[in-house]
Amino acid sequence: MNLKIPSLRADTVTQANDLAATLQGYTSSIPTTDEALRAFAADVDRGLRSRPKRLDCKYLYDQRGSELFEAICDLPEYYLTRTETQILTQVAEEIAAETGPLTLVELGAGTSRKSQLLLDAYCGVDPQPDYVAVDVSSSALDKGARTICENLPTVRFHPLCTSYQDAFSLLSKIGKTMVVFLGSTIGNFSARELDDFFQQLAVNLVPGDYFLLGVDLHKDVRTLEAAYNDSAGVTQLFTRNLFSRINRELGASVDVNQVEHVAHYNEAAFQIEIYVKFLQAQEVFIEPLGTRYKVDAGEQISTEISRKFTLDGLTSKLAAYGFTTQRVFSDPDDLFALLLLKRPESRLHLE
Ligand code: AVJ
Repeated sequence: MNLKIPSLRADTVTQANDLAATLQGYTSSIPTTDEALRAFAADVDRGLRSRPKRLDCKYLYDQRGSELFEAICDLPEYYLTRTETQILTQVAEEIAAETGPLTLVELGAGTSRKSQLLLDAYCGVDPQPDYVAVDVSSSALDKGARTICENLPTVRFHPLCTSYQDAFSLLSKIGKTMVVFLGSTIGNFSARELDDFFQQLAVNLVPGDYFLLGVDLHKDVRTLEAAYNDSAGVTQLFTRNLFSRINRELGASVDVNQVEHVAHYNEAAFQIEIYVKFLQAQEVFIEPLGTRYKVDAGEQISTEISRKFTLDGLTSKLAAYGFTTQRVFSDPDDLFALLLLKRPESRLHLE
């Protein structure tokens, strides 16, 4: 990773050396364009072969998809981003006061927009807070680096261009840490992926470390379904863009005007389920593999789930992985919650 961070001062660089050295070697797994394309083709192929057909939601975020997601965050119906930002603005200082100085490790940091609120607060308890931003998009990290260096010049910014799975093994090596996972990204995980994720965190965080988690809460169906079926139709463009990407990168020729975005709340499963519905029969050709799949008129291909949580359910699950809930922050309407969790100090340490 060759990010230029112009406003890092010389003394900062020296002091940041330890963490910087530890971070060396953690970016080796960035796939080349060629590898990434082959993985995309293989994943789409596997998804279209399975019954029912499905596609992996991580492929929604090419450049256009990321832009459309940013537009979703500003939609009147999409309360998630707005509400989480409000909560963070209000409680960032309390969080910093509660944990004291530590290294923030943000998974899926993107352009670090929301974490700036946190970092601002940590500047009040730490002269030079360390911030490790983990994301698969190097352009997003680059943008985040520039704004943070400009607005919060004392923050030691460490971009880590990798998947958060790869970042886990780093956690036990960097001293007191708070893992930050915002935006209800956790909602995209299946039950099994969620268990794996908590397990990995539990194994790699050490006693006394913190975990700050932003989650969307279970609520009335109307509010939930409106958030994923906005009146401006941006979410439809976001979902359809997956097929524009398949056309462009995998040589398919799906008529994207003949596919429709469908989102509904499965109340029993506590999840929004999103599909691409084919209005007429079409074929999806995957050029790199030479395979083709027939999709029937009316057939729906799953593209995403977005799970919603109850505080009781979530905190007891986290307790099973050894996390104690220190604080729960939410908005007055209980739309969204920010959980401050901790790996308790070991008993030995207390005695
Ligand atoms: C980025 C996974 C949190 O589930 O709300 C928004 C993605 N998809 N509208 C969500 C999304 C359609 C979003 N997450």
